[in-house]
Amino acid sequence: MRRTEFEMTPAEARAFLATQTAFHLASTTPDGAPLLRTLHGVVVDDYLAFHSAPKGEKTGAVGRAAVAVAEELVATVPSTFFDPVKACPATTYYRSVAVHGVIEELTDPAQKARALQALMEVLQPGGGHRPITHDDPMYRAAVNGLLVAGIRLDQVAGKAKLAQNRKPAEVAALLTSLWQRGEPGDPRAIALVRAANPGAPTPAFLAAPPDVTLHPWLPAAAADEVAALLDGTYWNTGFTRAELAAAQRGSTAWVGATDAAGAIIGSARAISDGAKRGWIYDVIVAPAWRGRGVGQALTRLVLDHPAVRATATVMLGTRDAQGLYAKFGFVDVAARPPRGFATTDMVRVR
Ligand SMILES: CC(C)(COP(=O)(O)OP(=O)(O)OC[C@H]1O[C@@H](n2cnc3c(N)ncnc32)[C@H](O)[C@@H]1OP(=O)(O)O)[C@@H](O)C(=O)NCCC(=O)NCCS
Repeated sequence: MRRTEFEMTPAEARAFLATQTAFHLASTTPDGAPLLRTLHGVVVDDYLAFHSAPKGEKTGAVGRAAVAVAEELVATVPSTFFDPVKACPATTYYRSVAVHGVIEELTDPAQKARALQALMEVLQPGGGHRPITHDDPMYRAAVNGLLVAGIRLDQVAGKAKLAQNRKPAEVAALLTSLWQRGEPGDPRAIALVRAANPGAPTPAFLAAPPDVTLHPWLPAAAADEVAALLDGTYWNTGFTRAELAAAQRGSTAWVGATDAAGAIIGSARAISDGAKRGWIYDVIVAPAWRGRGVGQALTRLVLDHPAVRATATVMLGTRDAQGLYAKFGFVDVAARPPRGFATTDMVRVR
């Protein structure tokens, strides 16, 4: 790769492939014409595997050189983030992985069934079907009849263009610009750009107490850790851990704090329409970290989140932490009923 600063490590490239389901496959037909297909693929047994009808165009490509690519647009970056006048700095940040090799037909029925089952698991994660196995009479004919092919993961090249070519101070300014722009994918883009540029200074909006890192976006996998922190709190009585985790993932704004080892030590979330009404929930700091400013940092960050910051009325309920929220302008609702506040609050409880 010409620009080595963008090159993914082999492990990063494979991890990225494993998260992708849609690929472009380029090869040639037997008469040498170019072939380009978009397909669903899955990593199985060190192959990027895909399936097709046995008489399709892809069948003709078996045994031929091919390249399969998966890509993800992380953020479009306007020129104005870097220059007030000149168009040239406009760019996109993205991740892209290419697998070069030869298309091989996978003929072992057990391996074919594994590939088809793996596709089901990523594309129909809710299940609801009998797992595909090669010796199940219900699936035997289908497994035998389909073409399952793959490209061995020998030549995997990944590129993550995430501002690694920028100076540390420019990266910090870029993060701030993404936060201020606040398009739906921007909090996640901030997380990815930051991870790719560990030497960049922390921008002011992510300023945190010593040994703490604030996150404007959390991956779905962090929900279980946050649910564990919330389990047993007085306002979550009667909810299961799975429900608590789902509530984090389903929020419009979800921020967190980690310690130096990367473990979650605090979190806050909000659901918000971005204009009229938002509600903050589940502000939590791990007991060992309380009293050091983490709760305030999380509250500030969730209120500043693009999904919340322009919202006219932000509400929350608390039994005893009024003092914390008063620092951010919260008052008792009876003292200042918000615009459009119903005279009778009604509720439906499942
Ligand atoms: C409430 C909580 C999130 C605060 O987090 P924290 O990291 O300990 O708080 P901080 O260190 O950022 O500071 C909180 C500030 O609010 C004040 N405060 C007022 N009432 C408070 C309360 N009940 N709990 C904690 N802080 C309170 C503190 O005195 C402090 O102000 P100060 O720095 O001027 O003394 C944390 O204690 C916690 O997780 N508690 C259990 C869960 C909970 O009650 N969550 C709130 C539900 S609405």
